[in-house]
Amino acid sequence: ADHTYDYDVLIIGSGPGGYVAAIRAAQLGLKTACAEGRETLGGTCLNVGCIPSKAMLHASEYFDAAANGTMASMGVEVTPKLNLEAMHAQRRDAVTSLTGGIEFLFKKNKVDWKKGYATFQDAHTVKIGDETVTAKDIVIATGSSVTPLPGVEVDNDKGVVVDSTGALELAQVPKKMVVIGGGVIGLELGSVWRRLGAEVVCVEFLDEILPGMDGDIRKESRKIFKKQGIEFRLSTKVTGVTVKGKTATLTLEPSAGGEAETMTADCVLVSIGRKPNTKGLGLEAIGLEPNNRGQIAIDHDFRTSVEGIWAIGDVVPGPMLAHKAEDEGIAVAENIAGQTGIVNHALIPSVVYTWPEIAGIGLTTEQAIEQMGGDKAKVKIGKFPMMANSRAKTNHEPDGFVKVIAEAESDRVLGVWAIASVAGTMIQQATQAMEFGATSEDIAYTCHAHPTHSEAIKEAAMAVQGKPIHI
Ligand code: FAD
Ligand code: NAI
Repeated sequence: ADHTYDYDVLIIGSGPGGYVAAIRAAQLGLKTACAEGRETLGGTCLNVGCIPSKAMLHASEYFDAAANGTMASMGVEVTPKLNLEAMHAQRRDAVTSLTGGIEFLFKKNKVDWKKGYATFQDAHTVKIGDETVTAKDIVIATGSSVTPLPGVEVDNDKGVVVDSTGALELAQVPKKMVVIGGGVIGLELGSVWRRLGAEVVCVEFLDEILPGMDGDIRKESRKIFKKQGIEFRLSTKVTGVTVKGKTATLTLEPSAGGEAETMTADCVLVSIGRKPNTKGLGLEAIGLEPNNRGQIAIDHDFRTSVEGIWAIGDVVPGPMLAHKAEDEGIAVAENIAGQTGIVNHALIPSVVYTWPEIAGIGLTTEQAIEQMGGDKAKVKIGKFPMMANSRAKTNHEPDGFVKVIAEAESDRVLGVWAIASVAGTMIQQATQAMEFGATSEDIAYTCHAHPTHSEAIKEAAMAVQGKPIHI
């Protein structure tokens, strides 16, 4: 250790980026501390994000399968009774056990947890509460928080106008919930409350939900959600929300401008995106200025423009995803330790954990064609419906399809997209294949276990070749 400083490395923030960076740095022999302002470790993901949302999605999926006739169609006849308190309790248990797990890992790896919000004094010194801590290298992993909608005030305690944190904790099932934003949070949390009995209307500014995903996938998933009872108002913006007692009144307008209308609801979820956390960090003290999107700019090695200061996760450009933050956490620690830490940012999978799941890796069809100079003939596409996959059909999961996108000339896979009950798990094989530079032929001629949902990826790859078997 360098005795000029208290620590070799200080990580600010203990989300998936920060806690992973801290553990890896300690594993590499660096004296490491991690500052966290929250009461518990694990950041957005473990406390109010990935984990509690999946706990509610999983539990509400069971309720829905019992309530919507899926279980009865398999000969299991039950009338479900919702115990929302117990559902919330198992959500809290999942969070407590996982955040406690990080605390255990910190102790095991001798990472010091500095409790409190950190503010830079200079490039090697931060203040955390009353304590001053110095470190040779400092990693900013402060994550992100909810983007507010101008003119709309969120009050999670009251439960009428909520953000994702409030929507995880509603004490009662709303009669009518309006979700502002047809992105990942709106669809996941909208699904939870729809399944538990709420009428759900999703208002999306753009002309389609799930921006950034493959065009076919966006359209098909909206059709599936509609079938499940979610109503969509596309190309529509919310311009204001007023609350009287337990009722919210929303003002809606066509995105392109036009006549306004109003809609009432007993719950409104604001889910229009997240913004990087840089306020209060004292960046001015080290001469670091966020870019025009509020993010901290970094180079390929996760270095900021200030010597000794690094940044990873939601606070830097790129998709705001836990696994991306984690991989960056490992890479930044390795770089600080003098090794070569790399993240392949072209291959970060994205998954929406609805029913069915929606997942993708690599380029969308639209991006692939654009990369080929707009020449559609240079891209080959193979699709396979889940309806024709034996396992999905047997499991009463007919919705969705797999799509493999390859470069026509080389046959190299450029992207894979899927809507399927277990698409999030299926997408990993495609990610690995692409990481190894696979062609669609490589996937088509790889033996896949039968009967599995993953066979649909093999068949979609065969479809690129022009010869699937089961359709
Ligand atoms: P964060 O997890 O945001 O952690 C940053 C931490 O830094 C926070 O705990 C904060 O308190 C702390 N901090 C901030 N400033 C300071 C300071 N000055 N001093 C000390 N501490 C500070 N991603 C997925 O990949 N899969 C999912 O299923 C998924 N589901 C989600 C569901 C919801 C409802 C939400 C909101 C997000 C979800 N995400 C999901 C996104 C995921 O949570 C983030 O991408 C991830 O948490 C980013 O990790 P991070 O380490 O960069 O930051
Ligand atoms: P998002 O960026 O996914 O979606 C926001 C949506 O709101 C967009 O479709 C956008 O067009 C729309 N919108 C913006 N302004 C609007 C307005 N005024 N009126 C109506 N619609 C408007 O953001 P979201 O859902 O809030 O999630 C934030 C981030 O959290 C995600 O981008 C993702 O990175 C992360 N996340 C990831 C999950 C996962 O991996 N499964 C789950 C939940 C969140």
